[in-house]
Amino acid sequence: MAVIAARCPDVQVTVLDLNAERIAAWNSGSLPVFEPGLPEIIRQVRGRNLHFIPQAQGLAALAEADVVFISVQTPTKTSGAGAGKASDLQFVEACARLIAQQARGHTIVVEKSTMPVRAAERIQQILSANQTGGTFAVLSNPEFLAEGTAIRDLEHPDRVLIGGEDPAAVAALKSIYAAWVAPEKILTTGLWSAELSKLAANAFLAQRISSINSLSALCEQTGADVAEVAAVVGTDSRIGPKFLQASVGFGGSCFQKDLLSLIYLCEHHGLPEVAAYWQGVVDINEWQKRRFAEAVQQAAANRRVAVLGLAFKKDTNDFRESAALAVCRRLLQSGLEVVAYDPRVDGTRFAAELGNPSHFSVASTAAQALAGAGAVAVLTEWDEFRSIAWASAKLSPGAMVCDGRNVVDRTAVRQAGYGLRVIGSAAP
Ligand code: UDX
Repeated sequence: MAVIAARCPDVQVTVLDLNAERIAAWNSGSLPVFEPGLPEIIRQVRGRNLHFIPQAQGLAALAEADVVFISVQTPTKTSGAGAGKASDLQFVEACARLIAQQARGHTIVVEKSTMPVRAAERIQQILSANQTGGTFAVLSNPEFLAEGTAIRDLEHPDRVLIGGEDPAAVAALKSIYAAWVAPEKILTTGLWSAELSKLAANAFLAQRISSINSLSALCEQTGADVAEVAAVVGTDSRIGPKFLQASVGFGGSCFQKDLLSLIYLCEHHGLPEVAAYWQGVVDINEWQKRRFAEAVQQAAANRRVAVLGLAFKKDTNDFRESAALAVCRRLLQSGLEVVAYDPRVDGTRFAAELGNPSHFSVASTAAQALAGAGAVAVLTEWDEFRSIAWASAKLSPGAMVCDGRNVVDRTAVRQAGYGLRVIGSAAP
């Protein structure tokens, strides 16, 4: 929304949230998310044509809006039909009810959150059942940005996707993006294709990671190096070089959730073979995290493990579904002590997510986390982990550095006299 406000100075954008504390943070100098470039844009547009208002005080803005984006979370259901797989649409449904009750005149309602295919049907039903005189058009406009590169992705998108059956509504939304996106990059499809395309894109990206991660294990057994294999495979223009970086496993709020949603949809529509195919992508990811944690456990020269990186990727403070959560849980369950360091993640919140275990603590520098450790687990590809001064790191003698991101300086680790295991490499 900040980028829309920046690129369309004539459009007034109001962001409503039920959580007044979060709105206060958006209005403060310390934003609730870390995202490179975001504070600069917010400073430019906040109070000009971007306004953050608690929902209870923002109903007039909602009533007047020509376009309303539904951008609430669609987490995996934890109870009821489809628990553990299907997307929970309760927050989307609550938004649709609120919009139906408040909206005046004609309102374009845009699905921005990732939805299961045919979710728009449910939104349309709620809007017609609860309307108080307004009329509505529902569009799907899924967001393809990735965290850490969000501003660049929004300003220079590969494509913007608008799905809908109402040409006037599609044209109206298209005119907003046309302020900075070339017309050929604004794709229009039917509603259901747009909804499914977002799930499909995330499933394809996750599938590439599970494919290369599955081969990382074979590389470790055979002496091949997964980075070399990926580089060769990626030069085929039909395959391309991106998303072939072997890792300790993908994380984040999207891939696992969207894969599970896709799997549920396939099962629901009587396609067990298709569901099983995509389930394999999830299973390899779980196996990769487990495999890495077991390697750290076996390699540890004493009971203390230093974990470097808690975020699910670099340049974000987000640790939702991060490999670090799974690996730390496993290390702690096996009785090891974990000292973690991450340049951006709030260690207190991470510890709370783990249930505040007594053997988990957070260091304020990498050097502090490393001191006395019998094993090191590198779980996020933060740039600073590429230049750790291993020679002066005070690891326990015989300690093993386990690199789940292929970022550490292999020569420096070896010269410092420590053992080294790199994901996808037999003889680092
Ligand atoms: C993803 C999609 O990229 C984005 O289009 C969608 O809108 C939301 O989901 P995001 O989860 O923010 O974005 O980050 P992404 O860069 O896709 O990384 C996801 C995970 O995959 C991270 O844990 C990352 O470290 C991992 N990854 C990525 C790999 O392990 N190897 C790779 O080659 C690429």
